[in-house]
Amino acid sequence: MSVHFSGLQKLFLAVTLPLVIGARYFPNWESIDSRPLPSWYDEAKFGIFVHWGVFSVPAFGSEWFWWHWQGQPFPAYVDFIKKNYPPGFSYPQFAPDFRAQFFDPEQWAELFQASGAKYVVLTSKHHEGFTTWGSPHSWNWNSVDTGPHRDLVGDLGTAVRKRSLHYGLYNSLYEWFHPLYLSDKKSGFKKQEFVFNKLLPELYDLVTRYKPDVIWSDGDWEAPDTYWNSTEFLAWLYNDSPVKDTVVTNDRWGSDCSCRHGGYYNCEDKYNPGKLLKHKWEKCTSVDTFSWGYRKNMKLKELLNLPIIIQDLVHTVALGGNYLLNVGPTAEGTIPPVFEERLRGVGSWLKVNGEAVYTSKGSTVYAFLFVRPWKPVLELSAPITSPSTNVMLLGYPNRLKWSPIQSGGLMISLPLEIFVGDLVWTLKLDSVK
Ligand SMILES: *[C@@H]1O[C@H](CO)[C@@H](O)[C@H](O)[C@H]1NC(C)=O
Repeated sequence: MSVHFSGLQKLFLAVTLPLVIGARYFPNWESIDSRPLPSWYDEAKFGIFVHWGVFSVPAFGSEWFWWHWQGQPFPAYVDFIKKNYPPGFSYPQFAPDFRAQFFDPEQWAELFQASGAKYVVLTSKHHEGFTTWGSPHSWNWNSVDTGPHRDLVGDLGTAVRKRSLHYGLYNSLYEWFHPLYLSDKKSGFKKQEFVFNKLLPELYDLVTRYKPDVIWSDGDWEAPDTYWNSTEFLAWLYNDSPVKDTVVTNDRWGSDCSCRHGGYYNCEDKYNPGKLLKHKWEKCTSVDTFSWGYRKNMKLKELLNLPIIIQDLVHTVALGGNYLLNVGPTAEGTIPPVFEERLRGVGSWLKVNGEAVYTSKGSTVYAFLFVRPWKPVLELSAPITSPSTNVMLLGYPNRLKWSPIQSGGLMISLPLEIFVGDLVWTLKLDSVK
């Protein structure tokens, strides 16, 4: 095949290519927001979120345990400690029991791949400040100095990438009880000692060591982005970091950023805009509806069931979002079998129906059935058929019979006997408009 350029196109290429390739970003939102999102992210559609840290040891309430115990005390948390731990017990004393003795990164990675997810995001540091890697800026409050004595971020990353999944890291900007953060806060965030002496050196180190594909930023809301030096960090990330061409980030970079600035939008936890957005977005949600971290007292009725998860995934992807589904591992390093069952269930469903989630093609449309059909005929009014239109049910070998409706659309004959259970079914229509 030969490609011909007109004179004007040649001129255009000559002028624009060097500019695009040499693009540098400046530390302001207009420039940062102009960066195109690396394409792997939109293609990925589905990721697994993992909340793991010292909060997995008390495993009570949620990963906000420390805050609800001693920051803004809730009676249930205070009582839990009073009943189960000796007087004077402090939160850091949980760390030695974060042992991860059964943590097998290969097993986790196998499960995540089997779920059909294309990326994994692990908490490298939640609001408690404990790092799940050997951060030199978090002395004795990291998973190498204490607890499992292991580089959890590194070990999971190696296993996940071996299976060609993308690897992202969650990082909380603020730390509830860090003395430098508290003194900056006292100054009305005029001082930036926490940012310059803790947060940024640690973030630069994290990116350089592990080369994450996602930086899932959080804990930004108490202070403006100028306090966090967010645009300066992002300009470095996009211009000069080892992941400048591949990394994606979200929108939690300061109290004024959510749903407005950064990379893709998270807006709020569990957010769904309910309509197509022009800007790429992600819904993060958790199988345990009460918590992101593992809870020993969770009950089955508090978990998302498989049909709900699949509907949520479909609804999110259909509106242009990515779906990031969270599981909380135990302090011992296991993923509770009930979470495993959900993830493998999503994977089995995606094996059959995944082409409708991962791809979109010219004259093919997919229709999802969220409720089990009870009539042998289904009417769709929107698709414009042609004589060569084919109608398939994914996972069913035969073509479905159909006939056009005079006023528009088509009637499809459904083999009712094959609809069992409560999952989502996908109709595939070829050669339609
Ligand atoms: C933080 O931002 C200010 C400008 O707003 C800049 O002068 C300073 O060098 C930045 N510091 C770091 C460590 O990025």
